Amino acid sequence: VVYRASTTAPVNIAVVKYWGKRDPKLNLPTNSSLSVTLSQDDLRTLTTASCSETYTEDVLLLNGSPSDLTGARTQACLRELRALRAALEAKDASLPKLAQLKLLLVSENNFPTAAGLASSAAGFAAFVRAIADLYELPASPTELSLIARQGSGSACRSLFGGYVAWRAGAHVDGLDSKAVEVAPAAHWPNMRALILVASAAKKGVSSTSGMQQTVATSGLFQQRIAEVVPANMETMEAAIAARDFPKFAEVTMRDSNSFHATCADTYPPIFYMNDVSRAAVRAVEAINTAAGKTIAAYTFDAGPNAVIYYLEEDSETVLGTFYALLESTEGWKKGTNPKSSVQLDEAVSDSLKTGVSRVIMTGVGEGPQKTDVF
Ligand code: DP6
Repeated sequence: VVYRASTTAPVNIAVVKYWGKRDPKLNLPTNSSLSVTLSQDDLRTLTTASCSETYTEDVLLLNGSPSDLTGARTQACLRELRALRAALEAKDASLPKLAQLKLLLVSENNFPTAAGLASSAAGFAAFVRAIADLYELPASPTELSLIARQGSGSACRSLFGGYVAWRAGAHVDGLDSKAVEVAPAAHWPNMRALILVASAAKKGVSSTSGMQQTVATSGLFQQRIAEVVPANMETMEAAIAARDFPKFAEVTMRDSNSFHATCADTYPPIFYMNDVSRAAVRAVEAINTAAGKTIAAYTFDAGPNAVIYYLEEDSETVLGTFYALLESTEGWKKGTNPKSSVQLDEAVSDSLKTGVSRVIMTGVGEGPQKTDVF
């Protein structure tokens, strides 16, 4: 017999960034963070976990290619999931002995890896959820977030849809460092995200090593974790509760700026944003100035791609600003022909026109979903 379970998991993009580990082994962060889960219609990982007496080793197939399962982080996730299954089996002798069987994990993204998007969050979330479902663990998403966190920090937030906080916690064992839902997608369903892919290249400095360098060398970072992030978390949670977009947007942009400032303050400095990223910042500023209020917000992770959050009702103005530049770019949804009177500087237009290789038009979405597609 082959036992099997399939699940999808979403990508999330933080609006208050995780940057810094207080314990690299357990993947415990120096600060709390908060993200928006994006729709799986556009971005998701689908993972099928199976186990059988006939399997001779643990195997992971990622987009069709055999992939490494021996890394310490992956092994930590596997060890914890197997221990939970073994505990169930010890309590109930009628359960099949799955904990001791080898696993086959088949994982696929519905977006091109070449899009240069961080896929580790969706990847580890789907990995953990699929095995937990296969083992029929009675674990809640928050309990599973403790395991996914050890795979990749940001993955713990992909166990939920909507608006999700990762509470840093204070314990040395990390048992209080977990994700919780701040609000479901339905609370603020009109949140949209336009992703401008500025480079498909693999990022120069990985987030894992970049954040270690920042923790070790940046003075500005101390202020970020002591003052900036705690204030941003509080304001952001209140903004989401009140569906206050201008506040949400301001904190999102300030927190991205603060994170990239600590990168510049790292010694030697780390630069994730490039000229195209900066053009996207200018374009968002032009949109907000023309609108006379804040209707768009940019944020950047450990790479040059811009994620622009806006509300559905402002689609015309926000998307219209980019339409003439990007309508023939891969990913622009057909039939989306909005009009906007926002004027961009020529240098900004040129930079976006030549530097953006793909767009992803998406919005807030749901958490992992069980599927029957194997
Ligand atoms: C800038 O979760 O990729 O995207 O825990 O080392 O795997 P590891 O790091 P990772 O870092 C993400 C950093 C970020 C901000 C964020 O998603 O909060």
